[in-house]
Amino acid sequence: MAKNILVTGGAGYIGSHTCVELLKAGHDVVVVDNLVNSSQESLRRVEELVGRSLEFRQVDLCDAVALERVFEEHTFDAVVHFAGLKAVGESCEIPLRYYENNLHGTFELMKAMDKHDCRNIVFSSSATVYGDPASVPITEDFPLQTTNPYGRTKYFIEEILRDQCLADDRWRCLLLRYFNPIGAHSSGRIGEDPNGIPNNLMPYVMQVAVGLREEVVVFGDDYETPDGTGVRDYIHVVDLALGHLVALEKLPGLPGCTAVNLGTGQGYSVLEMIAAGREASGREISYRIGDRRAGDIATCYADSAMAASLLGWRAEKGLSEMCVDAWRWQSENPDGYPED
Ligand code: NAD
Ligand code: WQD
Repeated sequence: MAKNILVTGGAGYIGSHTCVELLKAGHDVVVVDNLVNSSQESLRRVEELVGRSLEFRQVDLCDAVALERVFEEHTFDAVVHFAGLKAVGESCEIPLRYYENNLHGTFELMKAMDKHDCRNIVFSSSATVYGDPASVPITEDFPLQTTNPYGRTKYFIEEILRDQCLADDRWRCLLLRYFNPIGAHSSGRIGEDPNGIPNNLMPYVMQVAVGLREEVVVFGDDYETPDGTGVRDYIHVVDLALGHLVALEKLPGLPGCTAVNLGTGQGYSVLEMIAAGREASGREISYRIGDRRAGDIATCYADSAMAASLLGWRAEKGLSEMCVDAWRWQSENPDGYPED
């Protein structure tokens, strides 16, 4: 059944891919985004890809008055809450900005939702809430421990949503803990458009492949992993987007607050990712081994059984498809989206 969905942060990387799947499934979408880390061009391309329109409101979630106006003008069945700042390193330099933006934004959103009788929310959490896990694969009942302010904003928001669901049984919440999203829509029209030097591995690899950067620095090769480099659970962003679609379908039947991992359950090392990037692009990808990055862990991958049993979802796209799609986006849009 078609629903009215509010997507916060919908102009961003994961949000724009999720908007495609929501519109394709027939839902009506309103996006609220302040464009602090995105461009409205992503949403124009979403509309062009699907042949349907969405409504965009350039609003900061911390602006209670502007947000209230959006809720007054629409009736939402559910909210998908992507909006937030996400750079781990920056969060250590300017923690207040991260706490203010991510927590305050969520408070204003939850207050407006409560006031307007919309109490269904799907929240973008992260595997970062598991910190340095004692073992892998990681199940949802692992202890939570965070290593940086960004991660703590995710942890705190999870706890706030959990408390709200405990206090009021009309609230329903799915905390989706993403592992490492990469790739792009297969059209090559939307993808990840990092500001400045990419923090994450795959955008960096792709910028080296396209000639924007000289070499990848591998952050350490002395971890306790098969080739000594860090192992992560990379997941295609379209699989992730589809996870939100099923989460919205299941939410009405899932009382309370439930955390679910969205990963593939398969780990790849940094060197394997560079090799996969080379294969997909047909370009040489120079790299050198550098120091470990502070705060990094050796290995992280999901146990994805809960997503399968609870949501009936599993990731379908493999590593080569992730890299081919990432390369198509990067090679066809070497400088990302044009300036608005
Ligand atoms: P993104 O930066 O591309 O998207 C986030 C969007 O939120 C941006 O468009 C930004 O402009 C908007 N935004 C930020 N603060 C806002 C505010 N106060 N008001 C309105 N809009 C605001 O990031 P993404 O990679 O698409 O991530 C989406 C969500 O998923 C984030 O919450 C992120 O923390 C989480 N997440 C991302 C990853 C990842 O590796 N990309 C992994 C785990 C979790
Ligand atoms: C992957 C691997 C690096 C860059 C981060 C956040 C996490 C989540 C996803 C939001 C690691 C190595 C990286 C480079 C490298 N985001 N690497 N050279 O650190 O697993 O997770 O993004 O929630 O919270 O921490 O992802 O892509 O940065 O790193 O060698 O230039 O690649 O050491 O082993 P990470 P990543």
